Amino acid sequence: MVADSKNPAKLTFGDQEIDLPVYSPVLGPDVLDIRKLYAQGDVFTFDPGFTSTASCESAITFIDGDKGELLYRGYPIDQLAENSHFIEVCYLLLYGELPTPAQLDEFEPRVTRHTMLHEQMHNFFSGFRRDAHPMAIITGVMGALSSFYHDSTDVNDPWQREVASIRMIAKMPTIAAWAYKYSIGQPFVYPRNELDYASNFLHMCFAVPAEEYNVDPIVARAMDRIFTLHADHEQNASTSTVRLAGSSGANPFACIAAGIACLWGPAHGGANEAALNMLREIGTVDRIPEFIERAKDKNDPFRLMGFGHRVYKNFDPRAKVMKESADEVLGLLGIENNPTLQVAIELERIALTDPYFIDRKLYPNVDFYSGIILDAIGFPTSMFTPIFALARTVGWIAQWKEMIADPTQKIGRPRQLYTGAKHRDYLDIENR
Ligand code: CMC
Repeated sequence: MVADSKNPAKLTFGDQEIDLPVYSPVLGPDVLDIRKLYAQGDVFTFDPGFTSTASCESAITFIDGDKGELLYRGYPIDQLAENSHFIEVCYLLLYGELPTPAQLDEFEPRVTRHTMLHEQMHNFFSGFRRDAHPMAIITGVMGALSSFYHDSTDVNDPWQREVASIRMIAKMPTIAAWAYKYSIGQPFVYPRNELDYASNFLHMCFAVPAEEYNVDPIVARAMDRIFTLHADHEQNASTSTVRLAGSSGANPFACIAAGIACLWGPAHGGANEAALNMLREIGTVDRIPEFIERAKDKNDPFRLMGFGHRVYKNFDPRAKVMKESADEVLGLLGIENNPTLQVAIELERIALTDPYFIDRKLYPNVDFYSGIILDAIGFPTSMFTPIFALARTVGWIAQWKEMIADPTQKIGRPRQLYTGAKHRDYLDIENR
């Protein structure tokens, strides 16, 4: 345990008093160590959704939800989004420090050298139905990498872990772009290693072999920022899924595929797609009050997608940067008057002044704005979550590597509060 230890907390339970070690982390609230609780007190803790449970030690990302702060290895996200670029952020997340010029010169080509997919993977793509959701394809293809790259699946070998990590970061843009190309019936565009990471992805998505395609640097910058802002986010659902899958010793491609599957859900990575679909469903500004009323109605499952966050209860710092980026891109593309955007602006204004949203600290999150930018760039909504997955891959990998290297790591195995039937004997069918 790296964190400082304090005087233990005392838990009185029945006629027992149990000492619980207390740790003070570098940032954030103190943490009670309950690992010995069951052995000492024959009692479990109950915490569905893990709202009060630290599942691991981590030195990668820190969120202060009340202050609206997100740090990657100590660096505030807005400084990184403003001054850095995604490949540098990848290096930071993976190795803990910003690279020196020499380190960056060595790292960048190490990634770009792995951008191509095994040629046989072409056949793998064509096995999917033409109308398959790109997330379905990406989940499958990422898992399938383990069947193509046998020399990087041994999790106990640090060199193989490193190679697998670089392969996944390098190949995700190709996989995501090809999933898109497949869905629209266009030929796959191969990676171009002279382009930066974001430009290469845009090129693979929007170029066609029949003509020249030049990536707009402002669009590439916005794309790079989207990648940076989504790169890591503490122990969220998909990252915890990657760690849980990895805790059994599963190979890295399988673990990241598990993370992608989890990210797909509309309460997590799927929210950017759901947010834009919702804006389109609302359609015009005059229909907003009807949807606000639905969001407040406890008997209606409808929620304002792109609003609220489990951890940020002040504002989402990523949303602030993303809003600036949205203004820049929409200005460049000359589409400030687009009706979806007008609905978004008015919805944001109403929600930020409505007591229901203020009392519950529901602010627009990163997905509210990222969907607007991606739509303006020309991506269909079905590509929004794949782009999130592409960006988050480095965070999942950094967290997975940290877990594998942690000597206290164990297979994840939560307990339960059982509410089913007590022991009962089997009845033959005629007696039921
Ligand atoms: N619209 C309307 N009401 C909401 C919303 C919303 N988007 N989010 C939360 N509430 C209400 C909820 O009904 C509850 O009200 P009450 O206290 O009266 O019962 C209160 O706010 C607290 O909600 P909660 O479900 O306990 O909050 P949570 O922290 O468990 O949920 C959340 C966080 C992100 C799942 C939720 O806010 C949500 O479903 N938002 C929409 C989906 C979304 O945009 N997700 C993207 C998150 S950012 C990307 C990422 O990091 O993955």
